[in-house]
Amino acid sequence: MGDCLNGGKAGSFTNLDGTEQKMMSAPAQTTRSRGAGVCWFLYLGLLTCIAVVAFILGCYSVDRVRNPDYPESALTSNLGSVPDGYSVFSLGTGLGYWSQATAMNHSRSDHGVLAVGKYAYLIGGLSDEGPNGTASVLDSLMRYDTETGTMTEMATMLAPRYRFAYAVLDGFIYVMGGTDSASADAGPLDTVMVYNISGDSWAYGDKLARPRIDPCGAAVQGKVYVFGGYNESFGSLATVEELDPTAATPTSPALWVPLPPSSNLAVSRGDCRAVAVDTTIYAVGGTEYYINPNKSCDGDLWVNCYRFLRSVEAFNPLTKTWSPRANMVNARGDFGIEALPGGRIIVAGGERGNGVVNQQAMYEVEEYVAADDIWITKAPLPEARFRDDLAFVNGRVYAFGGAPTCDQTPDSGDDCYRVALRTVFAYFDVQYPRLYAAYKPANESAPRAVTSRRLLRR
Ligand SMILES: *[C@@H]1O[C@H](CO)[C@@H](O)[C@H](O)[C@H]1NC(C)=O
Ligand SMILES: *[C@@H]1O[C@H](CO)[C@@H](O)[C@H](O)[C@H]1NC(C)=O
Ligand SMILES: *[C@@H]1O[C@H](CO)[C@@H](O)[C@H](O)[C@H]1NC(C)=O
Ligand SMILES: *[C@@H]1O[C@H](CO)[C@@H](O)[C@H](O)[C@H]1NC(C)=O
Ligand SMILES: *[C@@H]1O[C@H](CO)[C@@H](O)[C@H](O)[C@H]1NC(C)=O
Ligand SMILES: *[C@@H]1O[C@H](CO)[C@@H](O)[C@H](O)[C@H]1NC(C)=O
Repeated sequence: MGDCLNGGKAGSFTNLDGTEQKMMSAPAQTTRSRGAGVCWFLYLGLLTCIAVVAFILGCYSVDRVRNPDYPESALTSNLGSVPDGYSVFSLGTGLGYWSQATAMNHSRSDHGVLAVGKYAYLIGGLSDEGPNGTASVLDSLMRYDTETGTMTEMATMLAPRYRFAYAVLDGFIYVMGGTDSASADAGPLDTVMVYNISGDSWAYGDKLARPRIDPCGAAVQGKVYVFGGYNESFGSLATVEELDPTAATPTSPALWVPLPPSSNLAVSRGDCRAVAVDTTIYAVGGTEYYINPNKSCDGDLWVNCYRFLRSVEAFNPLTKTWSPRANMVNARGDFGIEALPGGRIIVAGGERGNGVVNQQAMYEVEEYVAADDIWITKAPLPEARFRDDLAFVNGRVYAFGGAPTCDQTPDSGDDCYRVALRTVFAYFDVQYPRLYAAYKPANESAPRAVTSRRLLRR
């Protein structure tokens, strides 16, 4: 084989200047020529072997991709073809990388963040930078330049706000409901502030039909929607209101229209989040008030009688009805959310409870692929947080502020929730195909790596 590696016979090559040149001949050329023949034979044999193995592997994998009707595992891009009893695992699972970006000038939690051009607009929120670290509700609107990390103060809001829903439509940002009080018993507001992005100016819009704190909102097909949130006694809400900004007349602003009960969310939810993807609004996670048969709500109300939701609902603006979608992998309330290109949604951080205390900040990040109705676990945040928000700017996702885990004490009467973060993280991901490994778990009762409504429905 040494001969093969040294080359069989002398050849010639063309110089860069076009003249031909003989290669230096090996001394024992005649004895080498037979060796060269053997080499050719070995090369051909090896190539044939590789081709046969590749062909077999090719047949095998093509068969597996097209027809996952067999007992172990398959790669598929069509989750609808995955048979009963199989788990699915996205090839994008765990991908992505968070790195620290320039921190905000002020701590902010329970704020709103919107992407406009290369900027992220940071709206209101709660800051803990008052005297002696006291909390104050911000009326500041800041523009964060994602290229330089510099911040510019924009027109001040008409009043301080946090725990509101927001949406952007046709160059205007709508800040809906929320509250202006940093006290634990802050009540819901019905006010709406509208920001003109190009004019850098604020105005009040029509009031909501009912006050809402911690609602969610989004805009789709020329209309703004606000839904969910909590009422005056912190019951979670399922009702939906709609605003058509084009209905404004010179004498009257556009008015909020409460939609009928047939348009209610299936699950009432406060501290929920929403985004629009194409022509659909997704209402994601949040916290639901419920009557716990096993525990008294008079004890620790929020631990005993509220539950964090994994559930997701999709709103069709034509029929004005919601339909269920795949659950998130993790239940969470008060998290960051953003719509991504390609019909995807990213959620990061959020609040969860452990049955004894709530206000546990989360690291977990998930991405939803609308076309496949599936949630995929992605690289976690470097620092756990809830009441954070995300913006997709310049091809990256930025996570702004939020709050860290509270003291390990029951949260009733505790004011550690008034802590806010200044940190910002930027998320980098690689493009990955919509390709899934479908596999039969060795033990059917083993937990699924990811869930899909399609799979669970079967
Ligand atoms: C800050 O705390 C100190 C010590 O408790 C107190 O003396 C002071 O009055 C506080 N300042 C404000 C503005 O609350
Ligand atoms: C933000 O902080 C930086 C550095 O401290 C400062 O130069 C800048 O003026 C601040 N920007 C605003 C809008 O406060
Ligand atoms: C928004 O601002 C732009 C630019 O100043 C202005 O031309 C426009 O009239 C404003 N729109 C409203 C509804 O105020
Ligand atoms: C708030 O919601 C709760 C739970 O649905 C309900 O019991 C309560 O009457 C509502 N309060 C108000 C003021 O609407
Ligand atoms: C109440 O307790 C029963 C029995 O332990 C349990 O099956 C049920 O899931 C509990 N319900 C709730 C809402 O926790
Ligand atoms: C499958 O897993 C469950 C829970 O992990 C266990 O109880 C059960 O014995 C396992 N079954 C087999 C056949 O290993």
